[in-house]
Amino acid sequence: MSVALVTGSAGLIGSEAVRHFASLGLDVVGIDNDMRKRFFGAEASTAWNVVRLTSDLGESYTHHDVDIRDRDALAEIFKRYGKDIAVVIHTAAQPSHDWAVRDPFTDFDVNAGGTLNLLQNVREHCIEAPFIHCSTNKVYGDRPNSLPLQELETRWEIEPGHPYENGIKEDMSIDACLHSVFGASKVAADVMVQEYGRYFDMKTACFRGGTLTGPAHSATELHGFLGYVMRCAMERRTYKIFGYKGKMVRDAIHSHDVVAAFEAFFRMPRSAAVYNLGGGRHSNTSHLEVFALAERITGNEMRTEYHEANRIGDHQWWIGSNERFQQDYPDWKQVYDVPMICQEIYEANVDKWIPEA
Ligand SMILES: NC(=O)c1ccc[n+]([C@@H]2O[C@H](COP(=O)([O-])OP(=O)(O)OC[C@H]3O[C@@H](n4cnc5c(N)ncnc54)[C@H](O)[C@@H]3O)[C@@H](O)[C@H]2O)c1
Repeated sequence: MSVALVTGSAGLIGSEAVRHFASLGLDVVGIDNDMRKRFFGAEASTAWNVVRLTSDLGESYTHHDVDIRDRDALAEIFKRYGKDIAVVIHTAAQPSHDWAVRDPFTDFDVNAGGTLNLLQNVREHCIEAPFIHCSTNKVYGDRPNSLPLQELETRWEIEPGHPYENGIKEDMSIDACLHSVFGASKVAADVMVQEYGRYFDMKTACFRGGTLTGPAHSATELHGFLGYVMRCAMERRTYKIFGYKGKMVRDAIHSHDVVAAFEAFFRMPRSAAVYNLGGGRHSNTSHLEVFALAERITGNEMRTEYHEANRIGDHQWWIGSNERFQQDYPDWKQVYDVPMICQEIYEANVDKWIPEA
């Protein structure tokens, strides 16, 4: 028996990983306690996805409604599967800046403490298993905002010829900048994942994601950029824009492309690897640009409300470079760009996200 253990298995990246690794013939053990509902309310619950995974995958998926902060319950699961665990994919997290400020203890306990709990269990029970960690570009804090940017008609853009023109690389410093409470808890996890790679010679990777997206996102105002834009367009909700004239730029990568990268690492793991992983130059958008796209796809006029103040520490321009990952894993190819992603989010949710009467 070969087991893929996935935390946050009902979430966007977790559920895509569950399906993908099951399709490779592994038994998948998922851990998710629907904490997303506690963070963001009922509309963000991921319980629906557990029902789908269980009915679609049958015996190849086993779900555990367990909190990653619960060390005893986690240890039970790791003891049960032991060395059969062939890979651990850690996606469970408190993922929002704004929420973290409301409850820093819970944010840190889930993001930093939960990650440490998993690393230590891998060390004790299945040390050969690659540990794939979903980190974030927020580990760079607000440092990207010090890059020289130009204002174009629909977006901010980095000055031509800048070393990061094709995307921000992993050599950007994470020191001496504002991270937000969320960014700090993710830095702690990221550094600990690297440390278990170096100190204990485990096969660990931090994937510092840009905007991760896809139709399985339980999109809500505080988390899930493209999903929430599409939800607003479809349900005729008002989308609140915070600062930067709506021209801030995000790169966006589909969960399929993310999980394909995880598979590449699983097949040829390294120790203490760190990769930026995002849409890059291939797949990025500003708010204004994606609003126009959402209008074309849905046929609905976008309702927006502009707030002058930007969110503290929010990136004005983020396009990450996938170059380091592509050098290490040249067979990995990105499939999706922003129009494909938005179209797919629309089609997958057209029966679910219905305008209020
Ligand atoms: N979505 C993005 O734009 C983005 C960008 C960069 C990094 N990331 C990171 O990628 C990872 C996955 O993000 P996502 O968008 O799939 O998030 P998600 O919220 O869709 O999925 C996370 C899942 O983890 C579960 N969970 C949360 N706390 C838990 C706990 N204590 N115990 C057990 N389960 C718990 C939630 O219920 C949810 O189903 C996170 O680490 C996030 O910080 C996401």
